[in-house]
Amino acid sequence: MRSERVCTLEELPSFLSTLLPSLPPHCIILLRGDLASGKTTLISTLLTLLQSPQSATSPTFSLQHIYTTPTLTLYHYDFYRKDLGEFMELGLLEGFDMQGWHCVEWGDEKLEQILRNSGFKVVIITISKEEQKRRYRVEL
Ligand SMILES: Nc1ncnc2c1ncn2[C@@H]1O[C@H](COP(=O)(O)OP(=O)(O)OP(=O)(O)O)[C@@H](O)[C@H]1O
Ligand SMILES: [Mg+2]
Repeated sequence: MRSERVCTLEELPSFLSTLLPSLPPHCIILLRGDLASGKTTLISTLLTLLQSPQSATSPTFSLQHIYTTPTLTLYHYDFYRKDLGEFMELGLLEGFDMQGWHCVEWGDEKLEQILRNSGFKVVIITISKEEQKRRYRVEL
């Protein structure tokens, strides 16, 4: 299923709350979009909607950040300028086996292929910048 929506920062929570019910309890969410398109903001907003006391900051030196919410666990990865092979050696795929939402900033086609071949449920969200807004394309 594909859907598309343009929204401001203020409209983002309401857009994401309509998306939440269609996200499986265990999936890998690949976030694509240029620098400063709004990937981390989307994850932060998801956390707020899930009533997490924590807010999202990108894992720069670690493999992942883990946020526990009352309903599910959210794992946050940022692959900007990182070597996918190195992450694989560190046990990335095994990590994805954990029940929850795995949100990956800069999750490219190469990672998508590996995930699909391994049988993971993959959701792709592509963000593009528009004046004062962002366009979100969701592939479920
Ligand atoms: N829907 C939106 N409408 C307008 N501005 C937005 C929207 N979503 C995010 N922004 C703004 O975009 C800027 C960049 O956001 P963010 O840091 O989330 O981007 P990013 O894609 O994670 O960047 P990076 O590539 O550096 O990781 C922030 O100033 C944020 O407020
Ligand atoms: Mg970011």
